[in-house]
Parts: sequence; C-alpha cells; structure tokens
Amino acid sequence: MKFFIDTANLEQIKEANDLGILDGVTTNPSLMAKEGISGKEAILKHYKDICDIVDGDISAEVLSTTYEEMIAEGDILAQIHSNIVVKIPMIKDGIKALKYFSGKGIKTNCTLIFSAGQALLAAKAGATYVSPFLGRLDDISTDSLNLIQEIRTIFDNYGYETEILAASVRHSMHIINCAKIGADVVTCPIQPILSLLKHPLTDSGLEQFVKDSQKMQ
Ligand code: G3P
Repeated sequence: MKFFIDTANLEQIKEANDLGILDGVTTNPSLMAKEGISGKEAILKHYKDICDIVDGDISAEVLSTTYEEMIAEGDILAQIHSNIVVKIPMIKDGIKALKYFSGKGIKTNCTLIFSAGQALLAAKAGATYVSPFLGRLDDISTDSLNLIQEIRTIFDNYGYETEILAASVRHSMHIINCAKIGADVVTCPIQPILSLLKHPLTDSGLEQFVKDSQKMQ
C-alpha cells in the first residue's frame, strides 16, 4: 500500500519524506489556503517546491468547475513536473475532464468521492486515482470502510486499473482497515502515520533492552 501525505506544508512534507516511506503528496484548495498560498505564480511555485522534495505522485487540484476552465488549468499544472497528478472534482464536467486528461496520458485524481457509483464513473472515464473521503463520511454516521470495500469489489470485478486513494484519513485504524480491505493508497497528515509506530510493549521492551545492554558494556 502506498502512503501519501495530505498537506501543503513543506516542513511536514520534508519530515514525512525523511522517514523514507513516502510515495506521494495530496493537496487541496483548503490545504493550500492554510499555508497562505495565493495567486497563480505562487501556486505553481509551491507545487514545484513540493515536486523538488518528493519523488512521487503530487496531486494538484484545479480551482475551476467548468470543463473548459478545468482542462486549461490542468494542462498548465501538468507542465510543472511529470509527477503532477491533476486533481478534478467529481462533477459532470469533471468526468469529461478526466476523459480528456486520460486521453493525453496525464494522470488524474478524482476527488470528493462519497459513493461507489461516483467511483465507477471516474474509473470509466480513465481516472488514475479515485479519492473516497473516509473521515467526512464517518462524521455523518456513514460506514466509510464499507465504501472502500464496495469500490474494491467493483474495480476487481472489471479489472479497472484506477487506484483507490483513501482520503480524509484521520487516524491509524483508518490506515490499518484500508490495508486490510486492499485500498491502493492512503493519504493523511503525518500524525496517523506516526501513530502506527506506537506500542506500549515496544516502549517497555526497549527500556529493558537498553538497561540490560549497559550490563554488557
Ligand atoms: O484529501 C482530502 C482530505 O484533505 C480531506 O480531509 O480531514 O478535511 O476531511 P479532511
């Protein structure tokens, strides 16, 4: 399973990349705005900076919502670096844009997926990734893991190569459950990834080993 970091914060991206297990980055307009990035030039520069840190797929989201504007924007984003993945919202014009980019061999990530039908349409349009949002479904008392399972079954039934990129991942159990179901990628802030490291028996065991190692010196 691939691990992407879901942030536009360069320090966090560097920290995650330094772990040596990072496969890519996802961003969205909210995450970019949080970093104070505004204006066309600054946006393009920020994505370039991210591409310079991480050697993996970097999702850059279009800001427009009409077909013509999305393809114009996406074409510019795709020119920043060969690792750029154009992130497109799950709307009617978005499906057309996914088809356009897949025809040009440009990678895409269809975002704001909340149902299996949406994922199926995006796969049919040739999306490289679909991003079902786990945490936001859990927030409205809906079983987000069931959605991942449904999409996995549908993609496997028909051999779709579109990858399931589980997004809005908020904690380590989301990651474990996605791995059990067979999501291809999880994207989340660094904290849920670091939580996977933790076990009290590891801490107490290491404490004892360190104590005993002193007897050996
Ligand atoms: O990748 C989508 C993600 O950024 C949304 O996460 O926590 O805002 O629901 P969240």
